[in-house]
Parts: sequence; structure tokens; C-alpha cells
Amino acid sequence: MPAANPGRKPVRLGVNVLASGRHDAAWKTLPDPETLPTDIDAFIRIATVAERGKIDALFLADGPGGLVDEALHRPWRALDPVTLLAALSQATSHIGLVATTSTIFGHPTIVARQIASLDHISKGRAAWNIITSQTPVALAAFGLEQGFGQEERYRRAAEFVEIVTGLWDSLPASAIVADRDRTVFVDKALVRPVAVAGRHFSARGALSAPVGPQGRPVIFQAGQSEDSKAFGARYADALFTGQRLIEPARRFYADVKALARANGRDPDQLLVMPGLFPIVGSTEAEALRRKADLDAGLDIDFLRGELARHFALDPDDLPLDATLPYDKIAAAEPRVPIASRWPRKQILAEAVEHGWTVRQAALSNIVGGHRMIVGTPEAIAADILHWLDTGAADGFNLNIDVQTSGLADIVDAVLPLLRKAGRFRGEYTGQTLRHHLGLARYVDPRDAEPLRRTGTGR
Ligand SMILES: Cc1cc2nc3c(=O)[nH]c(=O)nc-3n(C[C@H](O)[C@H](O)[C@H](O)COP(=O)(O)O)c2cc1C
Repeated sequence: MPAANPGRKPVRLGVNVLASGRHDAAWKTLPDPETLPTDIDAFIRIATVAERGKIDALFLADGPGGLVDEALHRPWRALDPVTLLAALSQATSHIGLVATTSTIFGHPTIVARQIASLDHISKGRAAWNIITSQTPVALAAFGLEQGFGQEERYRRAAEFVEIVTGLWDSLPASAIVADRDRTVFVDKALVRPVAVAGRHFSARGALSAPVGPQGRPVIFQAGQSEDSKAFGARYADALFTGQRLIEPARRFYADVKALARANGRDPDQLLVMPGLFPIVGSTEAEALRRKADLDAGLDIDFLRGELARHFALDPDDLPLDATLPYDKIAAAEPRVPIASRWPRKQILAEAVEHGWTVRQAALSNIVGGHRMIVGTPEAIAADILHWLDTGAADGFNLNIDVQTSGLADIVDAVLPLLRKAGRFRGEYTGQTLRHHLGLARYVDPRDAEPLRRTGTGR
């Protein structure tokens, strides 16, 4: 479905932060790679460039808990995202701060307090990115033998979110009266405690942190399945999704906007932001060379193993310079675990479209999963606007090849073109992440003004 205001919608942009960058060999080009995952100065450098570009938000993905397999091959996400973003909030002034935490592991009261604290500390720049994954590493880290079935996973997530949002609303600013004469600080009569007894989670009482500057922190959600869409259309303000091809992206976009509408929501208040992995060069040849130079640092056997894992095949089934063995892939489909089906399906569709060999597929960001575009600033800006103007996205979560050079190329070469087209801000015009994203401040319906009756009284 075309966008409401084709040709006018502002582009929303997040930066998906990894200290080294998203290209799997980026770290080999950088000094002191062994300290990168925990180097706060490296994160501050990234945040500073992103804020210079007036980008909407820094986005920290995460795997809950344990050391991920990825760490065997590249710098990984070592630091707790909420703690790291709290530190970055003090090194920045406007950029939004999106922290990924799980709705499967841990307790909602802890997450409610962490994100509400980040919202106060950052003066209204916090967002919570909901994930529902249950990777073997996370299950093991939390001492669980097995995960939840699909339906139970989303039921658990819904209970989690209901408690978090209930707690976010539980201590309105108006309840903090600080009345010196009566020696009353919080007026108990104005507190709105939750009382939830769920199948998975329960909570009673009010949160220690009062309602923050945004009314509620922004809620992102990362997912892909039909259940995920229904969940996101109910609870999220913005969806982080993986879309490698424009047609399925348009269907996803139309579906979630329709679901939002069916829930009585304004579809413009549910943003769709797929991941995008741009590699920039001043000419196309230079961009291709930049990618080839980086790709030379990749371990092709590891990538072939990853591709084989996506397809539930043996690496020997994938000779590097042959086209993908579509028959074998189709036969192995039932063995692919649900949670890894999105990159599989999309890599496959893209491989068919471009006639890729195994090697080409392996070099197309199969680990990060997101769509790669290699080209000039003009080509990348045009691609971004094409997706916005044909109803495929409201913006993108940018994966940067190498930090901070790749981000600086976006900021200095791509964003000026979006600005020239009148589609990206030249300055921040507000203080909160909700403001940057065009999302209304959240108002608790209990505080909304009663509708005033006007006119004939019909
Ligand atoms: C774009 C995108 C980003 C995601 N980011 C993370 C992440 O940072 N950490 C994580 O553990 N899971 C992440 N996930 C996994 C989702 O939370 C979810 O578990 C997965 O998509 C499977 O559920 P679904 O098929 O119902 O969407 C991400 C998924 C998508 C689509």
C-alpha cells in the first residue's frame, strides 16, 4: 500500500551499534580489536558521529546472558545494553537510545525499572527493543533445558509487556506532591499500582521510578513471524524487521499497518524500520572495491558453514562456485528451526533473483541477515527514498560496515542528499526520542481529557 504522504515522509534512521562495525571482518582493519567489545571510548566515538549526523537513535541489539558463538569469530556484544546506553547518554545530548532486552528471560519489573531509569537519565531518549528469542546460549545461561513453543512464547511476551507498561504508568508525576507543610512526598491516593497474576509472570505494586519525560519510553520490537506482527501491532511503536527484498517488505508493511488500524491505532504511529547494510563509495567501483577488500578478510569456510546451518544442510552440499542446490534446500526445510527461518527464506529468494553462487550468497551478509546495498551516496539515498515512497518502510536501522569510517561516510555523503530532498532533519527539533520519530507523547488514558461534547448534542 502506498504511504500516506508519498514523497514527503521523513526518513527515520537508527544506527545498529557494534563497536567494530557490522562487516564480519571489520575488526581486522582496526587497531586493538581485543579491547573493542568493552571499550567505552569506541562507543562514544560512534555515538558522537551519529549525533553529528542528527540520526534518530543508537540501537543496541543483544543476546541475553551468555557468551555467543559469534564471539569465536568477531567482536561481539559484550556489555549490558542498558548500562552502556546510560553511559552514552552522558556523552550525547539528543540522540535516542534503544536497548534490547528479552521478554523470555528475567522478570518484567527489572526491565521496567531499567528502561524507566534510562529514560530519566537521558531526559526522554530511551526505548526498549523487545526480543522474544530463545537461543541455546540464552537458555543455557538462564538454566533452562528447553524453550517455549511459539504460542507460549508470545503469551509470555504479552504478559511481560503488560506488566512493564503497567509499571511505567504506576507512579504519575502528579502523585509526587512534595508537600512540606503536610510532610507528604508521594500522595498514595494518586499512585496506580498494578496487580497482575499471569501464567508466566506476576507483579503487584508501583514502580520506584515515576512516569518519565516521554510519558512512556518508546517500544521497539524485533521479529518477523505472523505472531510477531500481531504482537508488534498491539504493543510496539516501531518494528525492527529483516527485509532483503522490496515486495515482501511491502507486504509486511501493509500487513502491520492494517493490523494496527484493526486495533484502533493510528498506523502512522507504528513505524516499520527494516535493517539496511549500506557500503558506500564515491563511485560504484570504489564501493565494490571497499566490499571486496573487507570480504578478503572473511573466512569463507565459516560463512559456508553458516549458510549450511541456515539451510539445514552439510557444508559439503554447498560447492562454493556452484549455484545453490535448490532441491536439497527444499527437502531439508522441515529441519530448519522456526527462529532461523527468516534469513533462510530471504537469502534464498535473493539468491534466486540474482542467480547467486554459493560464494556470492555467503558474502551477502548472511550472519547479520540484513539487506546489503553497495554503491554511491546517490544510489543509497535513492534506494532509501524508493523504499519509503513505495510503502516498504518508514526508515531503516543502519548496519555500518566499519566503525567509525562507514558511519562518517553515511553522515557526510548520504544524509546531505536526504536533507537536500527535504527528507531528513538538519538539526534536532526536540529533545525526546518520541519527538524525533514523530511519535506522540504517551498519555495514560486515565489522564486524557474527557471528550468535550459540542454542536447539536447528537
Ligand atoms: C530484525 C531482527 C532483529 C532481531 N534482533 C535480535 C537480537 O538483538 N537479539 C536476539 O536475541 N534476538 C533478536 N531477534 C530475534 C527475535 O526477537 C525473534 O526471536 C525471532 O525473530 C523469532 O521470532 P519470530 O519468528 O516470531 O519473529 C531479532 C529478529 C529480527 C527479525
